[in-house]
Order: sequence, then structure tokens, then C-alpha cells
Amino acid sequence: MNKITKAVIPVAGLGTRFLPITKSIPKEMLPIVDKPTLSYIIEECIASGITDILLITSPYKKVIEDYFDQSFELERRLEQNHKEKELALLKTKPDNVNIYFIRQGEPKGSGHAIKLASTFVGNDDFAVLYGDDLMDSSKPALKQLIELHEKTSSNIIGALKVPSHLSNKYGMIEFKNEQTKEIKTIIEKPPLEKSPSNYAGLGRYIVSSKIFPILESLSLGVGGEYQFTDAMKKLMEQEKFYACLLDATYYDTGSKIGYLKANIDYAMKNEEMKEELKNYLNKDF
Ligand code: UTP
Repeated sequence: MNKITKAVIPVAGLGTRFLPITKSIPKEMLPIVDKPTLSYIIEECIASGITDILLITSPYKKVIEDYFDQSFELERRLEQNHKEKELALLKTKPDNVNIYFIRQGEPKGSGHAIKLASTFVGNDDFAVLYGDDLMDSSKPALKQLIELHEKTSSNIIGALKVPSHLSNKYGMIEFKNEQTKEIKTIIEKPPLEKSPSNYAGLGRYIVSSKIFPILESLSLGVGGEYQFTDAMKKLMEQEKFYACLLDATYYDTGSKIGYLKANIDYAMKNEEMKEELKNYLNKDF
């Protein structure tokens, strides 16, 4: 088992749930108050001890590479005009992590995207974070997974309890052992009465490099796409998986309502906006 220092963030999806804006703006770049969702996810990686991040992006998402790069001309202009505050805001390229990019030519699913990370990952265990799944927590969600990985030397899935009437919307976890939270399998969007538990696997994973040969020979899954969950289900037949019950609030920012909720909650934590927003939300709608 190795220390987890590498993270893969697939951000090449079509974002069909958020059309039409995602026709030209990646959902991962939509702002939560004032920063893109992806920026929060990269901060979570850094706070969890990640040193190398691979973003799986797409030919239509060049703005992602631009955002995490330097902007020389604008920097120079702001420097000349002594705009110190604005200059600080321009520093969107984090110092303490290496960010690499690779393109998924065609969005054939999360499994197809993550397969492209095999050279970057090598033989290491590594983290996967979905670029539109935002986790708000005092201890970073990925750090919670890493601590469990250190204890169990196993694959880990970030899990959250979901209301039972929503279990048909998620990949629901079936436990091999309720006590230890060892996972037997995941049932994708089960009918309400057939959900194996109240826990959904959500957007944060640590897996071994043994996932790559499985991804190579994966069949098409739900929606005619190669699904990362299907590969993990296969890996469960060879290696142990545990659920990390996250102490976090989850936002699906790839959905319009999840995105709005994240913005309201994050703005309510912002001292400059809090009071005005609170008063506004109290109006008669
Ligand atoms: P999602 O299922 O949330 O993304 O994938 P999507 O396909 O864009 O969603 P729709 O169209 O709104 O239903 C989870 C993560 O995997 C990435 C997405 O960008 C997202 O961050 N992804 C998905 C890829 O990188 N490539 C793909 O082919 C599919």
C-alpha cells in the first residue's frame, strides 16, 4: 500500500443535465459564489495531502486549462496599475500541487475517462474525485477516505446516507459486513423497495491500479457509456472495498437544483453576503 499522493479528476462529461449553459461553459467551471466548483475540489485535494493531480478534460473545455494556468498579460497590467487585491485573486494556479491535463477525445463515460490515467498512476493506489461532486466538511472528504485507506489498506468509496425515497437515484451500497462497512457490491439506481442500504457511493474513491486492466476490457453500461462503477464492481470480486461514511454535506453541482443549493449555502457562510442574502430569502416569493 502506498501513501495517496495522486488524484484523478474526470471533467470531460457533456453536462447534459445543465444544458444549455454547458453547451459552452463546463459545469465544473460554474461558480459557487466566486470560484469554480473545480477549484474547491482541487483545494480539497491539496488539504488532503495530494501532490499530483490529473484532470481528464476535453477539446471543448479549454477554459479549464486556462483557469489553472498563469495569465501573464493580465498580471503585468495589474502590476503596472498597482492593483494588489486583484493580482492576488488572479492567482488561481496553486503552488503546492502539480496539475496535469489529458484529453478524452469523446465522452464515452467516467470509466473511459479514468482509463486514460493509467500512465500517470503507474502501480500506485490513487484517488478519484468527480469534478461536479462538491463536499463541504471541516475535515476534507478525501482526507477522510485516505485515513480509512491507511487503516484498511483497501479500496475505499466515499458514502453518504440518503433519504430512502431517493435511493433510486444513486448507486446504493450493499454491505458484506454492516459493522466493518466492508462492501459487497453496488446496485445502480435500485427500485425504492429493493435498495440494499441507505448509503450511496458519491464522487470520492480510492482504488488500486488493478482497476486499469478491468477498465481496458469493460463493456458498455448504463446510458451506453463505460461506467467507472461497473469497473469497481468487478474489482470488488478481487479486492476488498470499504465505505467511508463521510462527515460532509454533498452537493451535486452538475444538477441545476444542487448547484443553486451549493451557492446559497456557501454564500450564507460568506460574512460579506450573509445578512443581505438572509433578508432576501425571507421575502415573500
Ligand atoms: P457525470 O455523469 O456527473 O457527468 O460524471 P456527465 O456525463 O457530464 O453528466 P450529465 O450529462 O449531466 O448527466 C461524473 C464526472 O465524470 C466526468 C464528468 O465531467 C463528471 O465530472 N465525465 C463523465 C468524464 O470526464 N467523461 C465522461 O465521458 C463522462
